[in-house]
Amino acid sequence: MLQRLQRRDRYALLLYAFSGVVIVVAGEAAAFYLGIADRHGFIPLLLRGIVYLLLTMALWAALLRANRRLVTGLMNEKRQGYESVLLAYDSALSLKDVYTGGHGRRVAHYTRLIAGAMGLPEAEVDSVSEAALLHDLGKIGIPDHILTKPEHLTSEEFAVVQKHPAAGADILRSIPQLRRHAMAVRHHHERFDGRGYPDGLRGTDIPLAARIIAVADAFDALGSNRSYRRGVSADQALNIIAQAAGSRFDPEVVAAIARKPLREALLAAHGEIP
Ligand SMILES: [Fe+2]
Repeated sequence: MLQRLQRRDRYALLLYAFSGVVIVVAGEAAAFYLGIADRHGFIPLLLRGIVYLLLTMALWAALLRANRRLVTGLMNEKRQGYESVLLAYDSALSLKDVYTGGHGRRVAHYTRLIAGAMGLPEAEVDSVSEAALLHDLGKIGIPDHILTKPEHLTSEEFAVVQKHPAAGADILRSIPQLRRHAMAVRHHHERFDGRGYPDGLRGTDIPLAARIIAVADAFDALGSNRSYRRGVSADQALNIIAQAAGSRFDPEVVAAIARKPLREALLAAHGEIP
């Protein structure tokens, strides 16, 4: 948006300069032909025109800059408000289940690292990372006794848990500003081999955002303690994920996390966010 404004301002200034030059030159030519220049001199008239043009251009530039600063301020304010709402959701979910506290923020951070390393455009990296922050939103609807149960879940309980991706997507679909994340959230538990849920999508039918979030989610979940088990080390978590390339996870995403810079970045980021 800001870049578009800058480009628009630049074109407006250029157009103004061009039309100013045309007016000054046309005015001077008219003055010359009408004989006014004989009385007042051609060069002083021309200089006056040029000085006027430069002064008004400087004024224009200052106004446009002030306009841009105002828009940037408003955009930042809106962005901060938006981010704090997203973070508030993560905190709300942490209150419900201490074991998943901060999970959304960590998955968002890992997702950002992976998406960036995979070469996604910056706007898409931001978008995927936002979706990652919200990926377990639907867990708000899971009863506490199931969400925090220390023992293994019964098949009925697991069926309730399995509803959270679709429930999260439904909530997001009802919020215009977050609607674009609905698909990534709905499909974050799909498996690359088609044996995931809720829709059993396979391979690249699963949105890329969801395939990236699935890996980031597993990296955090494997490395964190849960009510029913202790987490493994970050290094072990990455190895476990690598073994599931092509079955549970997209081999391209797994290949990305195996490359040295990203692997090191993930290992360094592990445990950074409490
Ligand atoms: Fe989930």
